[in-house]
Amino acid sequence: MKRDFPLLENSNIVYLDSGATSQKPKQVIQAVQEFYNKYNANPHRGAYDLSAEATEIYENTRTKISEFINAKNREEIIFSKNATESLNLIAYSYGMGNLKEDDEVVISIMEHHSNLVPWQKVTKATGSKLKYMYINDQFELSNQEIETKITDKTKIVGIAHVSNALGTINNVKKIIEYAHKKGAIVIVDASQSISHMKIDVQELDCDFLVFSGHKMLAPLGIGVLYGKKEILDKMSPFLMGGDMIEYVYEQETTFAPLPNKFEAGTQNVEGVIGLGSAIEYIQKIGYDKIQEIEKNVILYARQELSKLEFMTLYLTPNEENHSGVISFNIKGVHPHDVASILNSMNICIRSGNHCAQPLMRFLNIDSTCRASFSFYNTKEDVDKLIEGLKKTYEMFKKYISI
Ligand code: ALA
Repeated sequence: MKRDFPLLENSNIVYLDSGATSQKPKQVIQAVQEFYNKYNANPHRGAYDLSAEATEIYENTRTKISEFINAKNREEIIFSKNATESLNLIAYSYGMGNLKEDDEVVISIMEHHSNLVPWQKVTKATGSKLKYMYINDQFELSNQEIETKITDKTKIVGIAHVSNALGTINNVKKIIEYAHKKGAIVIVDASQSISHMKIDVQELDCDFLVFSGHKMLAPLGIGVLYGKKEILDKMSPFLMGGDMIEYVYEQETTFAPLPNKFEAGTQNVEGVIGLGSAIEYIQKIGYDKIQEIEKNVILYARQELSKLEFMTLYLTPNEENHSGVISFNIKGVHPHDVASILNSMNICIRSGNHCAQPLMRFLNIDSTCRASFSFYNTKEDVDKLIEGLKKTYEMFKKYISI
């Protein structure tokens, strides 16, 4: 697999930070180059052939994405900058427009700041309340916690499909079913799941789903918002400007229908094209194969990391509820030190709070080391990580007092 990824093929790095951003296959890089070589023009704006071609390729990708996640309607796919922008759009447009005093927004304690800070802002502005579903000692949300926190007062539930800090796969199907029974809508943050597992928005019956392209082999700066048409139709635009309008008068404006209503200004066409190519690449390999490869490597990583008695793992014991990332600490050693030492051995991991400070506080820690995996990782990568961790521990051993 690494052969398709120029950066991995041309270096001897062990890349274990795909949760932050994935590497890009040459097919995606070539698709972006081809756009600039052959089709570069602003879509929706020119009467000339080049602009029409750019429009066609941009809109075809929208259709490709809607089929990829099985949306009912291609207009339900909105392009954004990233999952963060998609979540802000929902918070400001749907949240501001629908929340009232004493309504409740429920999210989990493992949300990324992008599915948390906007809700603080919107609940404060509307007089509604922000409530949290907490994890148990297995780093999972129990059914009891879900059913206690989501009540008749809940209007919006925001949930990460897979936690970017823990790798826990949340039972979003259960959460969606339960929230719908209580009359709430559900937003699924699929940023950490879409590169690992098939997502079917109709089967899930989520009201919104967001993800970033750059974590699933596509370029940086392109994201997706899926929303049910009947909900998106009623929402106010988020960003105002060109291409999202119908008629503009001196004092009033009427807005374009979906999807343009939510796509103000010149869009990231190269990102959209790269995302289309990334989807084709994923489809060519197939999620079954991706899961088979990743499962093999991640199970091996779980097993080998658990053998290191100088480590603390923040990991669900239930293998089937775990995907993508493993968080850990060497007891008594700061994660940034661990990451720096590993870097000197060409091993890339992330250290820090992973944009999940409330989760870190809940776990009573400041930060963790995080190794995150993709289908291009191998058991040899895991072996190098383990070797690197052992060496790091040896270097620090005499200073550790625990
Ligand atoms: N949200 C990205 C991560 O988890 C950047 O690393």
